[in-house]
Amino acid sequence: MKTETIHPAKALSGPLELPGDKSISHRYAMLAALADGTSELRNFAAARDCHSTLGCMKALGAEVKVEGTTVKVTGRGLHGLKSSWRSLDAENSGTTIRLLSGILSGQEFTTRISGDASLQKRPMKRVVAPLRQMGADIRAKDDNFAPLEIRGGKLRAIHYEMPMASAQVKSAVLLAGLYTVGITQVTEPAKTRDHTELALEEFGANIEKRGRTIAIHGLIANNGKPVLQPKSLDVPGDLSSAVFFVAAASLLPESNLYIANVGLNPTRSAILDFFQQMGASVSVQNLQSWRGELIGDLAVKGAQLKGGVISGDLVPLLIDELPMLAALGPYTEQGIEIRDAGELRVKESDRIAALAENLKRMGAKLEERADGLRVEGRSAGKLHGAEIDPHGDHRIAMAFAVAGLAAEGDTKILDADCAGVSYPTFFAELRRLAG
Ligand code: S3P
Repeated sequence: MKTETIHPAKALSGPLELPGDKSISHRYAMLAALADGTSELRNFAAARDCHSTLGCMKALGAEVKVEGTTVKVTGRGLHGLKSSWRSLDAENSGTTIRLLSGILSGQEFTTRISGDASLQKRPMKRVVAPLRQMGADIRAKDDNFAPLEIRGGKLRAIHYEMPMASAQVKSAVLLAGLYTVGITQVTEPAKTRDHTELALEEFGANIEKRGRTIAIHGLIANNGKPVLQPKSLDVPGDLSSAVFFVAAASLLPESNLYIANVGLNPTRSAILDFFQQMGASVSVQNLQSWRGELIGDLAVKGAQLKGGVISGDLVPLLIDELPMLAALGPYTEQGIEIRDAGELRVKESDRIAALAENLKRMGAKLEERADGLRVEGRSAGKLHGAEIDPHGDHRIAMAFAVAGLAAEGDTKILDADCAGVSYPTFFAELRRLAG
């Protein structure tokens, strides 16, 4: 377990290139494994999570070659996966286990899939319930937790009204929808990231979108014809990783940061609007489209941040950015309030509890609530360095590393290696840019 020490800094400056987007990399890897032929995925995420997905696809019979940040995946078609004699290991990755559950539900064999201690505590009923409605036979520990045992087979198309706004649940149902005769529909209570829809279209599936309903035409009826085509794709830089650097550069007055080729999909980029509303100096340059995904460069300078409230439909659009925003709270004028975000309690850690505990260690004033927290702003006093326990959660480790840059004294991030789940070179890049 490695501890990283964060020293106070005055600026975060220089150019930064990010590893590929985690969400997009998972989807490209899974769909490439279902296509007929070899896909080339460039700037594939360095995130440990995405390599968990690659490990699972390999165990299911896809050929996977990793050459630096380029990954070549050879799939043998929608019906070409093979049963794995050993249990699949999604490690820490909720996206891997939930999305793959959709694909495994369509296979004519049984698969066991599990993950690490954190993943085994996260709710799976949310994917198990709709997949059972589609006809999959799934066993789960206490009917809600991994390990999952999935007996797949012929599936029925359903129209699923999702009880919660979750891109992972939507994606599991859409991926299972590939294996039905007919049209599977999913209606979301609020918009969530749409990388699955875009990736499915890119690989050749037939998707229709009407408001908050997404429909996919089943491909099982294609009688063995290749249905998903292999692709050569570039993965945009991960905006959710960029956000830690946007936050750090905003916090430190003399910053001048330039981040190239960042994914700016509108279902992810609400965080940039929020930063701008808070008074941050963030501008987007060279906006372009890569196979349905928007990308651009970000230029960030130091600024005085106002703070604000995040609630309602905004929550799913910046769900992964909430730890960083909460940890910025004490440096803002009005503080940060997060509401309607009970989902944060079932992420890689209970993020509300982990934020409250570590913010208090640094001297912040806050109120912890069931569905969020209210963190007081600058007038409640300056933060001081402390020992931070990220509870094995990459985003908690990175959020407090950033908070530590503007605190009085040094901050120690315990078990800092957990950042590798999404960003293995995070601390090295932070040190480089903070001089
Ligand atoms: C993700 C969806 C979100 C997000 C997670 C990645 C995805 O989870 O928090 O980090 O790639 O689909 P939920 O679907 O649970 O909201």
